[in-house]
Amino acid sequence: MTVRICPSILSADFANFESELATISDSDLIHVDVMDNHFVPNLTFGLSTVERLQQLAPKPLDVHLMIEDVDYWAEQYAQLGVFSVTFHAEATDSPVAVAEKLRARGSRAGLALKPSTPVEDYASIFGSFDQILVMTVEPGFGGQPLIEQTLLKVTQAREVIDRQGLETWLQVDGGIELANISRVAEAGADTFVAGSAIFKHDDRNAQIALMRAAASNT
Ligand code: DX5
Ligand code: ZN
Repeated sequence: MTVRICPSILSADFANFESELATISDSDLIHVDVMDNHFVPNLTFGLSTVERLQQLAPKPLDVHLMIEDVDYWAEQYAQLGVFSVTFHAEATDSPVAVAEKLRARGSRAGLALKPSTPVEDYASIFGSFDQILVMTVEPGFGGQPLIEQTLLKVTQAREVIDRQGLETWLQVDGGIELANISRVAEAGADTFVAGSAIFKHDDRNAQIALMRAAASNT
């Protein structure tokens, strides 16, 4: 299984994105958390900042929308030319229509599930997505511990993807660190977001390499 490591710049120094991005050049994708202080109780940045990040980033951007009104906003992020846009299932009544709009704009489409949102509620539409994001913490903040029960959902999502013969990536986000990444990989994830576990180290690329190796050894 191909392992992808996606550092989350939520844990970076927001006043120095250019130098911070240069420290994670060995990542597969760069994870960008967009929060609106409505869908989650935290605020980060919007379209214009993501547009600038897209110009500076050494690797493709993986945008994670933790916002309401994705029916309106999601395709605007895709229009910036980012690699993938992931929105929350809980933020729309028409997830497949949003995915189609994203793909029409040339972006990969991702569907995120909060810890309390059951996998089986959305299993029938997994085929409309390029990646499924199983949140392993409550969305909103970096540095939280992984919620162990969410690993069961990772296993369930992996079963759905394999049973349906899909190429869909299975991403996890929240509390992922060197000490647990192999367990999360064993549960079925192939695409790993990590913020604090990477940015707390001076040598971020070395940490990315260690996490990649640990996830690949399962
Ligand atoms: C949290 C964000 C995550 C966050 C993860 O809601 O979606 O991407 O940056 O941070 P860590 O890896 O520190 O838990
Ligand atoms: Zn995220």
